[in-house]
Amino acid sequence: RRLLCTAGAAGAAGLVAGGAAGAFAAETVRKDPAPLDGVGSASRPFHGEHQAGIADPAQACGHLIAFDLAPGADRKAAAALLRRWSDTAADLMAGKTPKGDDSGVALDAGPSSLTVTFGFGRTFFDRTDLTAKRPEALEPLPDFTADALDSKRSNGDLWVQIGADDALVAFHALRLLQQQAGSTARLRWQMNGFNRTPGATAQPMTGRNLMGQIDGTNNPKPSEAGFAAKIYVPQDRSGADEWMAGGSYAVVRRIRMLLDSWDHLSLERQEKVVGRRKSDGAPLSGGTETTRPDLNKVQPDGSLAIAGDAHIRVASPASNRGATMLRRAFSYHDGFLDDGAPDAGLLFVAWQADPMKGFVPVQRKLDRGDGLSRFLRHEASGLFAVPGGCEPGEYVGQRLLE
Ligand code: HEM
Repeated sequence: RRLLCTAGAAGAAGLVAGGAAGAFAAETVRKDPAPLDGVGSASRPFHGEHQAGIADPAQACGHLIAFDLAPGADRKAAAALLRRWSDTAADLMAGKTPKGDDSGVALDAGPSSLTVTFGFGRTFFDRTDLTAKRPEALEPLPDFTADALDSKRSNGDLWVQIGADDALVAFHALRLLQQQAGSTARLRWQMNGFNRTPGATAQPMTGRNLMGQIDGTNNPKPSEAGFAAKIYVPQDRSGADEWMAGGSYAVVRRIRMLLDSWDHLSLERQEKVVGRRKSDGAPLSGGTETTRPDLNKVQPDGSLAIAGDAHIRVASPASNRGATMLRRAFSYHDGFLDDGAPDAGLLFVAWQADPMKGFVPVQRKLDRGDGLSRFLRHEASGLFAVPGGCEPGEYVGQRLLE
């Protein structure tokens, strides 16, 4: 039942001993709960073949968090932690208050499309004596020439991605998981991001990033043939990484945008750099946002409609022997640097069945000089093995840890 708090002097006079919770209860009037509708009511299933937070739309608020196991924490301790975390995530995503949680942070709110996704970094396997089960796909990402990576904000033993369409719901999940890490794992880094709020535009549309571009148009769609094969590890996996069946690999890059330089470009230059119109995301070869870009189209003056170094040409599967990933990003803004430039950009998360057939070849090519890379700095990086989903009564990663 929903608690409605009454305020005012008379209420204050009625406060009784018994701590904050008692005082709160004394000041409440019980009413039948109004059914939630709209943003708060939406929920995503925690249990299933794949973890949530991969193929579903990115929410308005996101937290990416990495933990390192505490010294002495072994496989058993890690298994207990993943069980605690999975139980809590399942409750929160279903809109239930987990046992023992009296923080009240998300009281009154529905699940708000909350998703919680768990992954393992390369270092996890040595610390838990599971090196024999470490997937080859977790080999460190190659160095890229333009990288300016901060190792303290990169990698980590465990990775958690939280997304929700309400900031308090997202914070609540983050806070509970961090508390439950207890003496088993310590926070290594945290990044906070955001996307457009559902309902902010006249009709649902692809979101924009902080450069103002419509971003996410040419992502593979779950309804397309071949989506699962490109994004998820096959179910019939055998060998050391059998436990990854139904899972996916997340490449996380904190990419700062050089917004002061970018904002000085003319609209025409900005569009040329990407290869799409800024207003509606249509490719410069013509049509609407959803028209397939024609990379061969030549203009009357003989130049390519989509420039040779345009981001969509250099990144497209057609230019990278089919290399495909699902981009599911959050924007971030962490204040301003000493020179007044915004510390802002993209918490870029790319999902694929194999990073060597998704992110790596594409980033190699972008790094060699696409038009957009001149306005970007990759400042942190992580690669995580995200196991498949679990069934009720199980926990994420059980096939690895039991
Ligand atoms: C497409 C922006 C980084 C891979 C796009 C598009 C925009 C964009 C506006 C066109 C719309 C769309 O199809 O989504 C950005 C920004 C980045 C960034 C602002 C950094 C802050 C990256 C990185 C990669 C990447 C690091 C991979 C290594 C792709 C791919 C496409 C794409 C594969 C689709 C190309 C196609 O097939 O048409 N990006 N991008 N992007 N981007 Fe990026």
